[in-house]
Amino acid sequence: MPRKILVTSALPYANGAIHLGHLVEYIQTDIWVRYQKMAGNECWYVCADDTHGTPIMLRAEQEGITPEQLIERVHGEHARDFAGFGIGFDNYYSTHSAETRDCANEIYRRLRAAGLIETRTIEQYYDPVKQMFLPDRFIKGECPKCHARDQYGDSCEVCGAAYAPTDLLEPYSAVSGARPELRRSEHYFFKLSDPRCEAFLRHYTSRDSGVLQPEAANKMREWLGDPGENKLTDWDISRDAPYFGFEIPDAPGKYFYVWLDAPIGYMGSFKNLCARQGLDFDEFFKPDSTTELYHFIGKDILYFHALFWPAELAHAGYRTPSQIFAHGFLTVDGVKMSKSRGTFITAESYLQTGLNPEWLRYYYAAKLSASMEDIDLNLEDFVARVNADLVGKYVNIASRSAGFISKRFNGQLAPAAADLPAIRAIQEAAGRIAELYEAREFAKAMREVMALTDAANQYVDSVKPWELAKQEGKESELHAACSNALNLFRLLTVLLKPILPAVAAKVEAFLNIAPLTWADAQGLLAGGHRINAYEHLMTRIDPKLIEKLVAANKESLAPAPAAPTAHSPQRHAEHQQREIVAQSPAAGPLCTIDDFMQVDLRIARIAQAEPVEGADKLIRLTLDLGAGGTRNVFAGIKAAYDPAALVGRLTVMVANLAPRKMKFGLSEGMVLAASDADGQNPGIFLLAPDAGAEPGMRVK
Ligand code: 2FM
Ligand code: ZN
Repeated sequence: MPRKILVTSALPYANGAIHLGHLVEYIQTDIWVRYQKMAGNECWYVCADDTHGTPIMLRAEQEGITPEQLIERVHGEHARDFAGFGIGFDNYYSTHSAETRDCANEIYRRLRAAGLIETRTIEQYYDPVKQMFLPDRFIKGECPKCHARDQYGDSCEVCGAAYAPTDLLEPYSAVSGARPELRRSEHYFFKLSDPRCEAFLRHYTSRDSGVLQPEAANKMREWLGDPGENKLTDWDISRDAPYFGFEIPDAPGKYFYVWLDAPIGYMGSFKNLCARQGLDFDEFFKPDSTTELYHFIGKDILYFHALFWPAELAHAGYRTPSQIFAHGFLTVDGVKMSKSRGTFITAESYLQTGLNPEWLRYYYAAKLSASMEDIDLNLEDFVARVNADLVGKYVNIASRSAGFISKRFNGQLAPAAADLPAIRAIQEAAGRIAELYEAREFAKAMREVMALTDAANQYVDSVKPWELAKQEGKESELHAACSNALNLFRLLTVLLKPILPAVAAKVEAFLNIAPLTWADAQGLLAGGHRINAYEHLMTRIDPKLIEKLVAANKESLAPAPAAPTAHSPQRHAEHQQREIVAQSPAAGPLCTIDDFMQVDLRIARIAQAEPVEGADKLIRLTLDLGAGGTRNVFAGIKAAYDPAALVGRLTVMVANLAPRKMKFGLSEGMVLAASDADGQNPGIFLLAPDAGAEPGMRVK
């Protein structure tokens, strides 16, 4: 009996671009789903944009559009990027949908009926200018422990201390800059501390239940504490207006917190699919369902998926997830993705640079396991491995044999040698490799597949079709050799198809066969089968493309804000708020203090100044930054200054501007000067600090 399986990946926020970090999860899930479908199971893969919350509301405001317009635009961008990487969702929906709203209301109603919703008055920071309560990540101030300035309201990035926003010294709103006030408001809570939830979760998250990976189950034990200790605290599920989300049915002005309706978005997306496909939603979500439900997530959102979500489902009368599969984070060349290094790579830029998405799918597969360990995209290794494995080994088998079949045998195959050791090896390994796919041990699967590919190549090397083709009377040997090679190639394609769906489709077209299923690994092409002309299946990666990709993602203002390092639920819940830039006042778009602090302004002494031959407007400055060394900068200030008069003066420079190659040499920064829009009238005025400032001092 085929299994009935519903699979989800985490819903990406609708205010940011998909990047290679996100793609680890979507590619991992997609490979698993494609394997299930090939194996003959009924498997549905749904996802959606996560559209609600303060950051999305403010982002839309900043762009001068409605949140609905923002989420519609981003939905298009996300759908485009996912399609580009071959992510085969059966439905890619939105949490801002009637289905998700209905499911959220229903779950809330049932939890309330079960006595698991409670209201409480809490005190929270309020921005009196913006007239809204501020999420922790929108409050900044001085760390109470190490006194670093401009730290977020939940934790300090300098010393790592975690605290409440009310502990911050000199707090200010990251939205308006105003000093926040404490105000009271009524909030709705899901009573996670209720003994029913605790009892359920103790069993559900235990190692024995098998729902979680062992390392995740251990984490749960930490979060739950010892029996009787009850460390679980109630979960605040409401936010006050203004908020972009669903208004709570019986509570005007109160909205469901984005993390309440996000996982419900899985249901909403599936419900929408059910209506379109004629599927029975209840069959998948009733408490005694025999269907399977799997969530693929990042390890940082385990708390939401392994505690809140199953506890809600269980107590609202729905089935709970069969298993939750958490993966680690992506590093690039061994470190966190970074905008200044150009390794915070968007999906769009990867595709636009002309890189083949299946190169990345293969590389991730070759690194992925069932564990929560981080995976590294080493850019040099990426090029070497894809070129060696996919082009040098796999595609090579077809490219060395297909031409002869077309040219010498009218496109018709000879019968395959069923007892050829390389063929038998693949057929015997198929079951083991299926188990590895099922267990998400893709790296192990790829090791086996590449060993089988090596054996197939050894066969081709041993029969040498290119030599047989030159010898008289070796026609039938050549025919057999190439037919065996193409059969080997077809079998290997079965094993690689979950990872390389586009290549597999090209192979199916070239071999003139129906879409391959897992069972096809046991069969062979019949003698006389006619194939189509071979067309190149995959090119090598040109390392120059990688350089281009990194350059395209490099941001000139370094350093980029660090990604959160700790993964407490609180921290994660608000992490997207970093992407916010506040709204525009009179002087042009507002930037946050964070944005400003990215510009490293320094006092510089002009050590040398000279005209630049062939450039009317430029002066070449040698700037002395004290301990920061010297910089060569070309400044367009010749109309206003005699170079000799500048030597010895102090001024202000942008010290972290990306170096720019000019006709006259490398410019390693920029000096600051005041002028009208075109620098003409009344002139250009170089900035100068007050007496006492020294070269190298930071300006802020
Ligand atoms: O962490 C995130 O990016 C969230 N948008 C994930 C939500 S997953 C699910 F709960 F919807
Ligand atoms: Zn600190």
